[in-house]
Amino acid sequence: MAEFVKTVESSRVPPGSMLTVEAGGESILLANVDGEYFGMGAICTHEQWDLSEGSMDGTAVTCAGHGSVWDLRTGRAVFDEPLEDEPLYEVKEEGGFLFVRKR
Ligand code: FES
Repeated sequence: MAEFVKTVESSRVPPGSMLTVEAGGESILLANVDGEYFGMGAICTHEQWDLSEGSMDGTAVTCAGHGSVWDLRTGRAVFDEPLEDEPLYEVKEEGGFLFVRKR
């Protein structure tokens, strides 16, 4: 995914929320932290829970599965065992839609 791919209307990801979308054959977690958009792999690398089912506090996303805490800025998790990093995506808003591309 070298080029930007169109996803959903930006109104679907208001500040303080996150949403999992499929784009370019990948599941991507779109998150809006105080108006700034972040994109990260959406499927927890522990046991594949969808991270959008968890909770968000600033750029920290807690997995609803077993409580790993992901950093939207780095794609890294804090957990009681090492977890594989999530991929990161660049997110831009254009014409009322969110576009993503892999970093
Ligand atoms: S599936 Fe996310 S912590 Fe287990």
